[in-house]
Amino acid sequence: MHKTVFLETFGCQMNVVDSERIIALLAEIGYRQVDQAELADLVLLNTCSVRDKAERKVYGHLGRFKPIKDARPDLIIGVGGCVAQQEGERMLEQVPYLDLVFGTHNVHRLPELVQQAEKKAGRGSETDFLDRETRLNLFPQRSVTDSITRFVTVMQGCDNFCSYCIVPYVRGREISRPSDEIITEIRGLVAQGVREVTLLGQNVNSYGLKEDGEISFAELLRRVDAIDGLERLRFATSHPKDMSDELIDCFGALRTLCHHIHLPVQCGSNRILAAMNRGYLREDYLAKVDRLYRVCPQIRLTTDIIVGFPGETEEDFADTLDLVEQVGYADAFTFLYSPRTGTAAAKLKDDLDPAVRQQRFDRLLAVQQKKSEEIWNRDLDCELTVLVEGESKQGDGQLFGRTTWNRIVNFAGPTDLIGQMAQVRITRVFRNSHLGELVS
Ligand code: 5AD
Ligand code: SF4
Repeated sequence: MHKTVFLETFGCQMNVVDSERIIALLAEIGYRQVDQAELADLVLLNTCSVRDKAERKVYGHLGRFKPIKDARPDLIIGVGGCVAQQEGERMLEQVPYLDLVFGTHNVHRLPELVQQAEKKAGRGSETDFLDRETRLNLFPQRSVTDSITRFVTVMQGCDNFCSYCIVPYVRGREISRPSDEIITEIRGLVAQGVREVTLLGQNVNSYGLKEDGEISFAELLRRVDAIDGLERLRFATSHPKDMSDELIDCFGALRTLCHHIHLPVQCGSNRILAAMNRGYLREDYLAKVDRLYRVCPQIRLTTDIIVGFPGETEEDFADTLDLVEQVGYADAFTFLYSPRTGTAAAKLKDDLDPAVRQQRFDRLLAVQQKKSEEIWNRDLDCELTVLVEGESKQGDGQLFGRTTWNRIVNFAGPTDLIGQMAQVRITRVFRNSHLGELVS
């Protein structure tokens, strides 16, 4: 009989990819995924400490599983991801009913940790960072899929040390995967029916720069673009300082590259950008955006912005608002600054009034929401090309897909359209998705 695992994933696309890997590895030792902790023999949390103050949340979440474990003492509970990396053994001390902890470089060790817990052979924690060679060998290899879209990891880790960011500490040093391996994986995915890939890394723009003889990210895009049968190509996340003209020009030249880029700016004030250790000026950023619009006038941008970094003045914040107006983002993910233990910014004096920080956040949100509405409403009544990914999650017999701008469109249509490009007229615009009609 199958054993069952309930896995909850928090945070970024990296974690989504790691979670897929977790499920694949556990399948090899007989675990099947279920969608309720109550039905599971093994409960896992894949955690994130980048975007939110996750430690507290994780301990809270774990609390939900305690009554289940009280009723069924054989239940195995584990934590992985960035919080696990940071907290390590400490989590086992804090949470007596926790069985195992695995860090960001140790997903491959999970089956052993689980088997050890099954035998009640002691609680385990694995959070060591691995050396380059071992990591290169452990990059997710070619996998089996029935999806239309896939993430493909091209690099891991980050060496940028933005002063607010925990990633370099919890994901380790930057490492790029060999380009020939990436191309082989994507060819294999396309042969299985994948039509769109998103190349994934903390900072894909610096792909290959630190590996002897490796091609540039722009060249990687060109080679992926040349793969027969691939319809669409995306990538995330980009660091503005490493975005070359060669890369920008790909948006005007490549058949498959979607007309969307997520380009986190974080802030519009040069003083704060320097304090964040971002390595560019607002002028540099705006010049890159200009070039993007020139080579691809229809491109839409999204971004990340941190509000209320220590020492941010009203003037600094006005610079951010001004930059947001100038760029005209289709969407912005906005974050209230919060210190991450161990980062450089956590040591800065931070005397910003929390109420002021919140007000700025709300002001930015209002400006951005207006812009987002304006941009997404441009699609109304337009006939857009949608890559059909599957049946709509609403379960109302509709299909869903995405536009080149990564916008979800729900519409009624036959399921044999899944995996095809369809022409859809947009009939309604919601905050996060469109509704449309198939154009016959
Ligand atoms: N406080 C607030 N936001 C943060 N981010 C990263 N670290 C912090 C922090 N300490 C945001 C950045 C990043 C996104 C993934 O999370 O905007 O781009
Ligand atoms: Fe964090 Fe900066 Fe690296 Fe992005 S580039 S992961 S914000 S340190």
